[in-house]
Formats: sequence, C-alpha cells, structure tokens
Amino acid sequence: MKHDIKFADGRKSFTCGSGQHLLAGMVQSGSKSIPVGCRSGGCGVCKVEIVTGRYTTVKMSRAHVSVEEQVAGISLACRTFPESDLSLKVLGKIKNLTLGDV
Ligand code: FES
Repeated sequence: MKHDIKFADGRKSFTCGSGQHLLAGMVQSGSKSIPVGCRSGGCGVCKVEIVTGRYTTVKMSRAHVSVEEQVAGISLACRTFPESDLSLKVLGKIKNLTLGDV
C-alpha cells in the first residue's frame, strides 16, 4: 500500500510503500527533499519530525534521536516506516566535512 508523504511547509510530496522506509520511498520517487547519508540509522542527516500520521520505527542511534525526541515524533527517515499518509518537517542537514573533521 502506498502512502502520501507531505511536507508541513507545503513543499513537494512523495509516495512511500508500507514496507519501505521514508528515505527509500523518497529516493524511489525521485525526490531530494530529505538529506541522504548512510541509510542505516548511523549518521543522523535524515532526521525528521513527524507532524501527523501513523508510523513504526526500527532501532536507531541514540546519538541522533533521544528517547524524549522519539516520543515527540522525531525520527530518522531511514528508520521510519509509514502506516498512513504522513506530514513531516525535515530537521537534518548535510554536514560539510573539512580535512579537520577527518
Ligand atoms: S541516512 Fe544516515 S541516519 Fe538516515
């Protein structure tokens, strides 16, 4: 089953299957609205806030999403699976690495 994933600020939406995480659905739809990094819950760049809708999550790094944030609807798009249409806000940002970061 496909779900409509909309952005709370009115930007473009994309569709995502029930068994697909939000980041995979976005990439498959050709959208670039959420930053893409490791795709496995480790880097935190795909952090989002789910404003409305039902979803499930799988284990994610507490370095990027605390228990309190998760309870408040904050999640990682690569660890989040929609169970209904969703509305969300993008919180994550791509970090520009410099040699000093390596
Ligand atoms: S892409 Fe790295 S945590 Fe989602």
